[in-house]
Amino acid sequence: MPGLLLGDEAPNFEADTTHGRIRFHDFLGDSWGILFSHPRDFTPVCTTELGRAAKLAAEFSKRNVKMIALSIDSVQDHLSWCKDINAYNGEQPTEKLPFPIIADKNRELAVQLGMLDPDERDKDGMPLTARVVFIFGPDKKLKLSILYPATTGRNFDEILRVVDSLQLTAYKKVATPVDWKAGDSVMVVPTLPDEEAKKLFPKGVFTKDLPSGKKYLRYTPQPE
Ligand code: BEZ
Repeated sequence: MPGLLLGDEAPNFEADTTHGRIRFHDFLGDSWGILFSHPRDFTPVCTTELGRAAKLAAEFSKRNVKMIALSIDSVQDHLSWCKDINAYNGEQPTEKLPFPIIADKNRELAVQLGMLDPDERDKDGMPLTARVVFIFGPDKKLKLSILYPATTGRNFDEILRVVDSLQLTAYKKVATPVDWKAGDSVMVVPTLPDEEAKKLFPKGVFTKDLPSGKKYLRYTPQPE
């Protein structure tokens, strides 16, 4: 079945975009990457999402994350749509967005990446591209995937939050608990023995007592 699973390497596709032709691996370089897909140009929910994504571009860049969007329709349509997106953001209606939008007119990439929404169809009965979020690490492997139907817009604050978690947990032996946000305490991963945890986390490891007597709820302040 086409699609991408956690740990899969990003396909090194070639595509036309609003920033010219790209090869995906070259585009990613050594950065983290986020690829987010859209059902169609000139649609209301997509316009609000891309407007928000453009406003958050500096936040993604600060985290060394390259952004790229995908929508069916042509580069020419995308460029024309960018003017609306900038106007929606209250800015000059130029064709410039801080990230490229891939043209996937024949949905070939959407099919290859498992992005179709079978419940939402265009006027010709073709399934629309769903709202997928793929986050790739610097090794070009898929670290996170979220799949929304075409009718539900994404929360880009949540996407930034998961980037913070992915980057922290990639480098430290911690996991982030429910509703965690950057700066909150984190959990020591279950596989790390207590003695090693004490050495690794000099700010302290705090265990919550539980009826089972098992000491698995181990917190530590977010490591630097
Ligand atoms: C939208 O972006 O507004 C949208 C696109 C496809 C289906 C429903 C909504």
